[in-house]
Formats: sequence, structure tokens, C-alpha cells
Amino acid sequence: MLAHFRLRDVIQLLGLGCLVLNRSPIAAARVVEGRDQETPTSGRQVIKLDTDWRFWHSFENPDGIAYDQLKAYILPGANDFIADPSDHHKRPSSEPNITVRYADNKFDDSDWETVKVPHDWAIKGPFYIGDDVPVGGGMGRLPVQGVGWYRRKIIIEPSDTDKEIYLDIDGAMSYAIVWLNGRLLGGWPYGYNSFRLDLTPHLVAGKDNQLAIRLDNPTQSSRWYPGGGLYRNVWLTKVDKTHVGQSGTYITTEGVSSSSATLNLAVTVENKADVKRDIHVSTDVYKFNPETGKMGRKVASFPRAAVSVSPGQNVDSSSSTIVKNPQLWGVWTSQKKPNMYIAVTELRTGGNGKVIDTYETRFGIRTFDLSSKGLLVNGERVRIQGVNQHHDLGALGAAFNVRAAERQLEILRDLGVNAVRTSHNPPAPELLDLLDQKGFLVMDEIFDSWEIQKNPNDFHLIFPEWHEADLRSFIRRDRNHPSIYSWSVGNEVGEQYTEAGGTAVAQGLVDIAHDTDPTRPVTASLNYAKPNMTFPTAFDVISLNYQGEGIRDTPAYSHLSGITTYPLYTAFHEAFPDKLIEGSETASALSSRGTYIFPVVDVNSAPINDTSGGNSTSMQVSAYELYSADYGASADKVFAGQDPYSFVAGEFVWTGFDYIGEPTPYYDARSSYSGIVDLAGFPKDRYYLYQSRWRPDLQTAHILPHWTWPDRLGEVTPVHVFSSADEAELFLNGKSQGRLVREQYSYRFRWDKVVYAPGELRVVTYKNGKVWAKASVQTVGNASRLRLAADRSSIRADGDDLAYITVEVVDSKGRVVPNASNEITFDVAGAGELVATDNGDPADFTVFPSKQRKAYSGLALAIVRAKAGKRGPIIITASGANLKTAQVVVKTR
Ligand code: GAL
Repeated sequence: MLAHFRLRDVIQLLGLGCLVLNRSPIAAARVVEGRDQETPTSGRQVIKLDTDWRFWHSFENPDGIAYDQLKAYILPGANDFIADPSDHHKRPSSEPNITVRYADNKFDDSDWETVKVPHDWAIKGPFYIGDDVPVGGGMGRLPVQGVGWYRRKIIIEPSDTDKEIYLDIDGAMSYAIVWLNGRLLGGWPYGYNSFRLDLTPHLVAGKDNQLAIRLDNPTQSSRWYPGGGLYRNVWLTKVDKTHVGQSGTYITTEGVSSSSATLNLAVTVENKADVKRDIHVSTDVYKFNPETGKMGRKVASFPRAAVSVSPGQNVDSSSSTIVKNPQLWGVWTSQKKPNMYIAVTELRTGGNGKVIDTYETRFGIRTFDLSSKGLLVNGERVRIQGVNQHHDLGALGAAFNVRAAERQLEILRDLGVNAVRTSHNPPAPELLDLLDQKGFLVMDEIFDSWEIQKNPNDFHLIFPEWHEADLRSFIRRDRNHPSIYSWSVGNEVGEQYTEAGGTAVAQGLVDIAHDTDPTRPVTASLNYAKPNMTFPTAFDVISLNYQGEGIRDTPAYSHLSGITTYPLYTAFHEAFPDKLIEGSETASALSSRGTYIFPVVDVNSAPINDTSGGNSTSMQVSAYELYSADYGASADKVFAGQDPYSFVAGEFVWTGFDYIGEPTPYYDARSSYSGIVDLAGFPKDRYYLYQSRWRPDLQTAHILPHWTWPDRLGEVTPVHVFSSADEAELFLNGKSQGRLVREQYSYRFRWDKVVYAPGELRVVTYKNGKVWAKASVQTVGNASRLRLAADRSSIRADGDDLAYITVEVVDSKGRVVPNASNEITFDVAGAGELVATDNGDPADFTVFPSKQRKAYSGLALAIVRAKAGKRGPIIITASGANLKTAQVVVKTR
């Protein structure tokens, strides 16, 4: 086996700070398929353009440029993704008659900020507080708006003159327009999609070439925090003039069994040379371990094919092969391994047989069957235990970071999650690699609005001209990921209300998706469309937002205005008896970690107001986990709404993690309350409710609330326990409060009449008559010291890897003080630096990069990055007034 490298292994740092991935032709693929297979012989070189960007941002339009004015130059970039040639856009024959100062090679950007990409210009804040602000709670109260310019030099070696050189941008927020050496190349308005521009015609070899990228973020463009900037990776791809095209491989499987699987492969060969090329296409398939990046043995080869490609043309070469005894990709909750393969495609010239391109595609072999019987993976039913996830990474904002995303998935896995809906936009490509690798299912979603707006500046403005290109490029990019079981083309779109008109738009999108990937079903989430309407008929899968469990249909919600919807799982099942039905958004239960508000409602689900679970002054929601958005439901109500119906395939909870923006019900706050996990990554009580359901074999019991209530002596203080047990007995200071049996369709043990006295609460739970799990909470003393814990003891010294440091405020006996809000100061010395702090409080307006952070319900978080190439320990110290200081050391490697 040849040597393997991972992305983080810096092989060569050029003068400009480029990371060059220089590796063997069959070295393991990294995170984005088709990338980093560079060798001098294979002809493909992929360079991460992360360092040395110059950045400048203005809240006003500093250059008078508008997308609409230049779109004639941008739209031709969509042509590769528009099926009908008569709809293709033609670039105007003359160049735009404008002077673009910031794109000029001679412009002096030396006083601009130097930044590393991925970069989110808004995350450092400050927050906008109050009413009359440019960005309100919905978009996260952070300065996302305005125009950002990024400039960077690119040196092209003289030996590159015969190459085709592309700029690949994984996501730029938003309305990207790109210039090279002063010449407008193109762009891509939708900030979540990946796109490619050909730099070749305007590059000068051996010289500094000036790249300039303009991004423009309007206000009122989103219902959540979008972030701003080059917030995902940017790459320079150098290839032979004749090469595998962008997202140019497509692998499907058929006849999958434990003894054999047929693989079908289409390779798009693109010829940018000015002569016809005769090319031999060959592809070998290997076992692949995404965790180590290592390839295993060769398991199959596709028959070699010869194609002849005229100048400027793309030709598809298709072939099939068989893999014997395939190791199937499986979902982790079924105790199945997510086995992966890698297809290594080589293009050779017909003449001397020289390899001119090597392109790697990761894929998996598995079957999905979707029907009214639910989701079968390799023939076995897998219940969808899913969560919705927005794209921000908490205190890091939208700037993508592999470790931050991996940590989220680790926390979700511990909770029992096996599926993610990428609400409501294309994710970072690396996230899909992680989801494949860890055995999660994915509903890959692209749009939150179509022709009808939700916000004045959202996607509806460009839907007519861009939806086809956005949808096709998104599916082509993602279609080889085994984890994706369904495409979603929309979320709660306004077209649900327009019947025939809306259905036609839906059908148009479904047709595009089927045409681009005939193997996967297509859905869109319905929060309004009913079984007797035409809109749902357009979709292969019925995905209900809140309608399954019912909206405002119980007495606790009856005083609210808004539509009442009775639970609709059965009605949809009757109307669409063959289709898979799932809850694409469930619950919208809300809570602030560790906050308990009295009195506690006696029903299992209630909306929030100042007399029911909420405090609009402190902007906190009670963590008894019984309270929801006005249109939502508690987890208990959701479960009871699903369990009678075996045809319900499962659900995606709104949401796994809290996210920035949309702080329902308190829009004066900064981040959401809906997460099972808070913004900092700390589990709320709800975590244990879902864990008890999703990991029924885990012997756990979780008591709430905490038991330190000096002001509640003698007051009724309900105690609830989450456990997968069927019986439980609670003791207060040794005295039984009763032994309870969990009834059908009830999901918690609740002792609502407990009178508070300091001391100890202890629960013993039973399953099938045997002791199952025990837990206790105690009344704790005053805050006395800090305790630190790092999520990992060593991290890579690559400038990207992160250590997550949790600080707990504890009493003299080392017990967490549950209401501690002490101000903590973090100091980081040695080989690392502090990136951000948080505490999960949706109403904390301390800026994320601050080294001071108040504890919230006893906890706070520091995110620490290793400095690139710097060896030695990172020493993290946390201190606070009247608290014993704590220190933790993280090694670098
Ligand atoms: C849904 C919507 C989500 C989010 C959620 C908040 O209606 O699809 O994007 O807004 O409500 O509860």
C-alpha cells in the first residue's frame, strides 16, 4: 500500500501559505470527493486557499455594485446545470462599463484585515440589542449585513500553463461575484451552494494573479443566522485540459445482496483543450476507511472504456461491474458498520497511455426502501431518530470547522440520533462525509422558499433564474453519499397555499431532482398542505411539520389564535397508503438549560407565557420540558402522537442543537431555545428524555430539577424522572414519594406534589421488575472552585483542530452549583489560542470571542484552537472572583 496522507498533514507550505495536497494517485480521498488526488503523474492538484486573504467589510454599499446590474455576466455560470440548451445564458459581448476599484490589481489592500478562510465576518459581533436595529432576533442580532470584499494573490507556476485551473468555492454568503486580474469571471448568488469558476483564460503564469471576491448580504434575507463571508473552504484545482468534470462521477448500485452488488458508474470527461482528445477511462474500486483515510484491498474494476471528446465538450462514459460479498453501509443504531468504498478513476491519453487525471469518489453500497412500512435499510427497518440542524456551529458561527461539526455528531450520537435533516439548505460537503462515516441517515434539503417570499430578500428573488441550476448542482455534488436517503426541495413553502399553481412549481422541482438522481425519493415539508390537496401529490415521501402530532389541538393551546390542526398521520396514511410518512419537524419544544420556573403545568404539553413556563423579562423558558412554541408540542405529546401508528417512519426533532437566530418565544434574545442541546453543546434535560426513548437499552435515570432551592422551603416543587424503565420510586431524604408505573403513551415519571426540603432526592427505577438504574441529586453548597475538562487530551497542531473546554462551578465537595452565574476569565498559553466562549444562555450578549464569560446554570465553555505548526502543550486557565482557579493542559501533536 502506498503512503497515505490526511488533509491535516501539511505536506508543503508554499510562500503564499497554500496548503498543497500532494499525494499518491491512489492515496485515500479526503473529505470532498474528487479532491486531493494530486501527484505530478496524475495531473490533478488541489490546493486549499485558506490563508493570506485580505478582507474588508462595509455596512454601506461601498462600490455602487448590484447583483442585478451584473447578473448577465454571472448567469452563464449556471449553464452547466440547466438541461435545456435553449435556456442557456450568453455572456454579453462587451465587458461591463464600470470601474471596480477593489478588484483592480493595483489597489492597495495592505490596510485590510488578514483573515483565514473559512471566515464568518459577523460572528465576532457585537450583538445588536433592542428594537430599532438593523438585524433583529430572527437573524441573530449579529452584523451579517453589508458588503464584504476578499482579495488574495495566486501564483501560477510556469509549468501550469498547459493546465486548466479552477476556483472551487464550497459556500460564500452571499451573492458572490468574482474578479481575476480585474476581469469579472462570474459568481453564484445562493450562499449555501458550492460553485466552480474557470480561472484559466485570465491567469498569467509566473506572476501574481489577483483574485477579488465581493459578497453582499442583504438584511431580511433569512429566518435564522446566515453568517457572512467565505464561510466554507475555497480551493484551487489544477488539472489537465482533459479531466473528470465538476462532480463528474455518479455511482449507483443495483441487485444488492450479501453475496453481490452491481455498481453502475458514469464518468463525465470534460475537454477544455482546443483539439479532440481520445481518452481511456478506467476505474478501480477499493475498500475505504474514512476514519483513517486508508484504502484497503481492490474489490472490483470497471471495464475500460474509450471516449473521444471534442474541444469544449463533455462526454459521459458509463460502465458496470460487480462487487462480490459487498460490505454494506449501515446505520449505527442497527449495530451495522457504515462500510465505505472508494472508486479511483483514471483518465489516460489514447496515444501514450499517460495518466492525465485521477479522481476519487467515496461511496457506499446499501439499499433503501421507502414505503408505508417505513424506511428499510438493507431490508431491515430503521426507525428515523432524527434532528434538524442549522448550519451554524454555535460560537464559531457559520465558519465551517470539521472538528466542531464532528463534536456535534458525537454528542448527537450519544443521545441516540441516527438521522439529520440539513434544515433548510445545502450543508458543507465535509459534514456529509462525517455523516457517511458515522452511519447517520440524511435528508439533504436545499430551499426554505421558492417563488413566494418568507422574507423580502430571501431566495424568492432569484428563484426564477436559479432554482434549476441550484438544485442540479446541489444533487450532483451530493449524490454519491450513501447516507442521503432523500432529497428535500423545500420547507414549509408558501406554494402549499396556492394549490394548482404551487403544485406545478413543486412538480417542476421534483422532476429536476428525479432527472438528476433517479435513485432517490424527493420530498418537501408540509406544515399546511392537507391530505385532500394536490400539493402533497407531487412528492414521493410525505414529510409533515408538526401536523402529525397536531397543532393547537389540545385545551392548553385553545386560547391561541392561528389554525388548529388535528393530528394528521392517519389521514395522510389513508390518502397516500403506499408512501413513507415521517415527521420532518416535530415538537419545537423550548427550554433554557438548567432553568426551572414554577408553578409547573399539569398537562403534558403547553404553550409558553409568563404564567406558563416562561419569563419574558429574563428571557428564559423552563426546562421541565413540557413547554413549546405556540404551534409546537412537548416531546411527550409528539411521542404519544406517533406510537399508535407503526406506519410512521420516525421523526426529525426541531432541533438537535440550539442555533443562532430565531429565538422563539423571546425575539429580544440572540439564539434559539429549541435545541435538545444548548448552543454551547451542553445537554438540556430533554436530552435524557430522547435518550431514554432512542437508546432503550441504556440503563439511565435522570432527575429534574436540581435540588438547591433556598427560596422554596416548604413549597411544592415537582420532580420528574426520564428513564427507559417501566417503574420508578422516588425518595426525598430517604422517604418514599411513591412508586410509579409508566402508563402506555406516557414518557416520564412525575411526582408533582413533592414539597421542597433540602437534602437528597434519589430515584430507583425498574424494568420488568428488576432494578434498572438509579440516580440522585443533592442540595449543594456555595460556589467554591472551578473545574475544567477538555473533550480531548491532545489535538493536532494544524491551526484548525479545536479543544472544547468545559468549566463547572462547584462547591467545596466538587458538586456543580446549579444556579451559578459567576464571571469566569479564560487564559490560554502555550501552543494554542482562545477562539470563543459560550454558556448556552440564549440571552447572553457577551460577544463570542470574549475571554470573560458568565457561567450559566453552573457551566461555561471555551473553544481553543491549536496554532499551526506549534508544538508543546496548551495551558488553559479559568479563574473567577472568590473561586479557586483551575487549569487543564491539552497536548498538541
Ligand atoms: C418551523 C420552520 C423552522 C423553524 C421552526 C421554529 O415552522 O420550518 O424553520 O422556523 O418552525 O419552531
